[in-house]
Amino acid sequence: MKYSSLAYAKINISLDIVSKRPDGYHNIKTIMQTVSLSDEIIIECTSGKSINVNTNLPYIPKDSSNIAAKAAEAFFKYANIDGYQVNIEIKKNIPVCAGLGGGSTNAACVLRILDYIFKTGFKRKILEEIAETVGSDIPFCIDGGTKLAEGRGEILTDLPKMPDSHIVICKPGFSCSTPELFERFKREKLHTAPDTEGLIKALGNSDINAIARRMFNVFEDILPHGRDYIESIKEVLLDCGALGAIMTGSGSAVFGLFTDIENAKKAHSKLIETYSECFLVKTINETAPVCELEVSK
Ligand code: C5P
Repeated sequence: MKYSSLAYAKINISLDIVSKRPDGYHNIKTIMQTVSLSDEIIIECTSGKSINVNTNLPYIPKDSSNIAAKAAEAFFKYANIDGYQVNIEIKKNIPVCAGLGGGSTNAACVLRILDYIFKTGFKRKILEEIAETVGSDIPFCIDGGTKLAEGRGEILTDLPKMPDSHIVICKPGFSCSTPELFERFKREKLHTAPDTEGLIKALGNSDINAIARRMFNVFEDILPHGRDYIESIKEVLLDCGALGAIMTGSGSAVFGLFTDIENAKKAHSKLIETYSECFLVKTINETAPVCELEVSK
């Protein structure tokens, strides 16, 4: 039997860095939102003792360095389960190194599927605990929706759901290094900080205009390169009627928030002329179910 589920991408509606930590990480304060852009994860377990990863993208690692394999390893260690060969197939649609949580959502999806297969019944909190040992953004991806993430990213608070919106995501042809961006950040040099509390209030009021006005990502100001591309994508999104447009995570993808589908379509068709990695998606508030796939004999 094979099992599959969808791994949804995330966007950061706002992203603030609060302080540097003694462990080398940074305390952050970010509001994340799941969107309908997804990878598909298919898992088959047989007897044996290895974790194999296969993807449709040649440059994604297929060995134990893949974050999906690390998640499987962490699951088996926590669950004290041994003696299985796990084949993980990842059908990638989410751009990599884009700030869309592609690797993190794959890892979270692996944890959800393995919990289903092995009937461990770990539920959300335990899965988030396992996720935290593998990467900072993975705990959010276990349950998704609209959440505040603090600490390294693992301290999660459920927020009022984001009003249903259309999101246009566009990734320019360069990537940013997450560790490098964190390293470049100096809070004292920050001109404006995100109004996270105001954004949470706006979510509580389902006030999409107030949400859009407060969208802010501190990484945008300290990009070592590519700022022009980010600004020009934002300009197209806003010109087409986006209520707000910012970079997500450590970039380089940019997203625009729309209530009007026609405006969103206009922005998408304009951007796709220049950028191949451009998507029109919507906000999502639940995780995808795990499905059982019959294996043809
Ligand atoms: O946890 P993850 O492997 O996703 O983090 C990648 C890198 O990003 C870390 O090695 C660290 O340099 C940086 N990071 C950070 N503070 C965070 C999350 C990530 O400094 N809260």
